[in-house]
Amino acid sequence: MAVEKTFVMIKPDGIQREIAGEIISRFERKGLKLVGMKMIKMSREKAETHYGEHKGKGFYDELIAFITSGPVILSVWEGLEAIKIVRKVVGATSPDKAEPGTIRGDFVLCTTFNVVHASDSGETAKKEISHFFEDNEIFDYSLPLGEFLQ
Ligand code: CMP
Repeated sequence: MAVEKTFVMIKPDGIQREIAGEIISRFERKGLKLVGMKMIKMSREKAETHYGEHKGKGFYDELIAFITSGPVILSVWEGLEAIKIVRKVVGATSPDKAEPGTIRGDFVLCTTFNVVHASDSGETAKKEISHFFEDNEIFDYSLPLGEFLQ
């Protein structure tokens, strides 16, 4: 098992619904370490690069309009197997498959307005982190119980 970094975005609906703190708290409670965070209003260009793999799909235009509609919170989380663990905390993309107890299982009814995005693989995590963060915006620090958490 390896210590990994992964990328999480709280989408405009997460901020509008005032559940950003709840979402951040779930990752903290799981034992993941927050190593980068900022709020931005995403440009159309950044959104199109981020969601490039979905270009041409029926939901693409709505997705780009939504993600650029208001501020988002970008974050980087670190921990053992963080990529897979964060996806578990987030829950399935399809609202009827997202289990209760996951973020989407507890807060999401609609596939597009699904409050949070998380990287789905090591390659994606690397790409997404470097797309939104400079090296000096990622922090290396210890938690008091860090060696037990990792
Ligand atoms: P996210 O994890 O950010 O990755 C791609 C996004 O596209 C996804 O969350 C949803 O917001 C959106 N999405 C994926 N599939 C669909 C779909 N079938 N209908 C509408 N939106 C979708």
